[in-house]
Amino acid sequence: KKHLLSIDDVTVDDIHALFETAAEMHDVQRRDVKKLPALRGKTVINLFFEDSTRTRSSFEIAGKWLSADVINLSAKGSSTSKGESLRDTVLTVTAMGIDGLVMRHSASGAAQQVAGWLRQESSTIPVINAGDGTHEHPTQALLDAYTLTRRLGSLEGRHIAIVGDLTHSRVFRSGVKCLTKLGAEVTVVAPPTLMPSGITAWSKDAGFATSYDVDAVLPTADAVMMLRVQKERMSGGYFPTAREYTVGYGLTRSRLGLLKEGTPILHPGPMNRGLEIAPEAADAASSAVLDQVSAGVAIRMSVLYHLLAGPSAAATTGE
Ligand code: CP
Repeated sequence: KKHLLSIDDVTVDDIHALFETAAEMHDVQRRDVKKLPALRGKTVINLFFEDSTRTRSSFEIAGKWLSADVINLSAKGSSTSKGESLRDTVLTVTAMGIDGLVMRHSASGAAQQVAGWLRQESSTIPVINAGDGTHEHPTQALLDAYTLTRRLGSLEGRHIAIVGDLTHSRVFRSGVKCLTKLGAEVTVVAPPTLMPSGITAWSKDAGFATSYDVDAVLPTADAVMMLRVQKERMSGGYFPTAREYTVGYGLTRSRLGLLKEGTPILHPGPMNRGLEIAPEAADAASSAVLDQVSAGVAIRMSVLYHLLAGPSAAATTGE
């Protein structure tokens, strides 16, 4: 049984295979008629218990361009709002005969939990984690790394800075794993209040660097990935204040001058313009933000193809 729950589930060879298929899918995006027959007759459900623009719509487009039938179900408008449990919701939709389950949930570990329940039911439906709390967002990491390889070539030895609200970021947790697997030298930067506890041991073990000083890191970066300040996960208000955050850690117009010419600027979206990223950075010629969105469709086509149809499905991920 195969899932994509975490970047821990994929080997370097799996990532390269996913990128190779994504490159072919990227070419499909440029065609007038985009549909491929690969998943004809298959049904994919997008089960989203947290809001999304990019991930949900790109999984829907990806499934449809592979000729799958795609059903969208969100917490609002489903029986979750009447108190139905996650387990009952999942078992209900899987009993309808779906072939793949894409899910987003605010609880870290939710996708792993669902995969466990399906295993108990002897179900072979693949689960794709589209973001679980502050834990992981593996397809975002894949699309970010794919975008970077298209800009920079091999990531071996390249210095990638990840800057922002690390504490609440599943994008960072999946991203740092994916980029280090591909040989990148990663430095993660945050104010002390948004640096996750336990990161010293993890960074030593995983081989990435940490810093509180964005101005010291940017000049040597080959790419910079800005992260969203996740106000919705800060129930006690946020510290530093918005103004302090921008002054200390935002990719402001003046900080753009610290970057080497043409350094790709990434942001997973949605962006807080004027908080963690200035419009001049988001819209710079070197910005990769919309390339990331476009790569998101190609990567999700690739993931759906490998898990639901592809010859390398057996080599891709597991629990
Ligand atoms: N990057 C990302 O996951 O965006 P959405 O929340 O819009 O899906």
